[in-house]
Amino acid sequence: MRRNVLVTGGAGYIGSHTCLALIRAGWNPIVLDNFSNSSALSVDRIRELSGENVTLVEGDIRDIDLCTRVLREHKCTSVIHFAGLKAVGESQERALEYYDVNVVGSHSLLNAMSVVGIEQIVFSSSATVYGAPQSLPITEDHPLGPTNPYGQTKLAVENLIRDVAGSSTRLQYGILRYFNPVGAHSSAKIGEDPKGKPNNLMPFIAQVAVGRRDLLTVFGGDYDTRDGTGVRDYIHVSDLAEAHVCALQKLSESESSYVVNLGTGNGYSVLEVISAFSEASGVAIPHEIAERRPGDVATVYADVSYAQKLLGWKAERGLKEMCRDHWEWQKDNPTGYSAERT
Ligand code: NAD
Ligand code: UFG
Repeated sequence: MRRNVLVTGGAGYIGSHTCLALIRAGWNPIVLDNFSNSSALSVDRIRELSGENVTLVEGDIRDIDLCTRVLREHKCTSVIHFAGLKAVGESQERALEYYDVNVVGSHSLLNAMSVVGIEQIVFSSSATVYGAPQSLPITEDHPLGPTNPYGQTKLAVENLIRDVAGSSTRLQYGILRYFNPVGAHSSAKIGEDPKGKPNNLMPFIAQVAVGRRDLLTVFGGDYDTRDGTGVRDYIHVSDLAEAHVCALQKLSESESSYVVNLGTGNGYSVLEVISAFSEASGVAIPHEIAERRPGDVATVYADVSYAQKLLGWKAERGLKEMCRDHWEWQKDNPTGYSAERT
């Protein structure tokens, strides 16, 4: 029998890919999303691709009564918690809102789980909790020190979950620290659909390639890296989605909790990503090198050995597939899920 898992933020970028991976692995995702950064169309696409009538509840994780009702009515046995706000720059201007959605929202969800007696949670954290790298590759015991409100909220939720698990409840958790998710499902039916101007590299490149933007600004050409541009650990969103299935499986197999990095362990520079994307799409990406972006660092990549040992999972898709699949999605859906967006 399929087990029901509540997926908060399941209509979003990583959540939608994870719902598909869950269905393929025999789980039944129950999506709770307020569509503040997504569209119900992504859930329609998940239904189309999977042939399953995925349950979708429109609502806010800060509504504890709603969370309680959904968990109870759908007899969920665990939760994957994606819902939240995620833009570093925006978090500096709207700190109160970031703490409200990310921290208060997670508190409300944990409260509802406690009321209903649900004891397993997988939480979407971020490599941003490490702050500026003091050593590379980044291992899970690297010191923590986020440098922006978004990262602080992620660390606050990690601490909240750890403290709740350490109190009298029997909460068991898997905290997943993602590096740089990119790409799209190989069907090109679901993918990343940022509202407004993309903050992240790959969606910006894709919008230049499809003609929605004229020029990519490369933030900094004087870093101490191979070609002077920033190096990051990009991971295909479908690999990331599959890791969530392993993460849930791990919680159900043992009584322990864990914190784990999810990346590929490989770093690519901005110029290398531009070149790989041009090759995959056959489209030149006009770009110019400008000042560094405040808060950026030269190089970030993960030590992925613990993920492999703990979850038996390893990212399989390389930069070429990341670019190809991101491009196919963008090409087929030039304005994302919306018919008329600029
Ligand atoms: P996303 O914005 O596409 O997905 C988040 C989803 O949560 C959206 O569908 C949004 O509508 C929903 N949501 C937001 N606030 C909500 C609320 N109050 N109640 C209910 N739903 C709400 O983002 P994503 O890239 O899929 O990221 C998912 C998670 O992974 C986030 O927690 C993010 O912080 C984390 N993460 C993302 C990245 C990345 O680069 N994409 C990196 C590290 C960590
Ligand atoms: N970059 C550009 N031009 C752009 C956008 C980005 O040159 O228009 C560069 C950045 O300077 C950086 C690289 O591309 O060198 C990657 O930048 P992203 O904004 O795509 O990703 P970041 O590594 O800065 O941050 C992302 C998420 C964070 C998350 C972090 C985890 O945005 O939320 O990965 O490592 F915390």
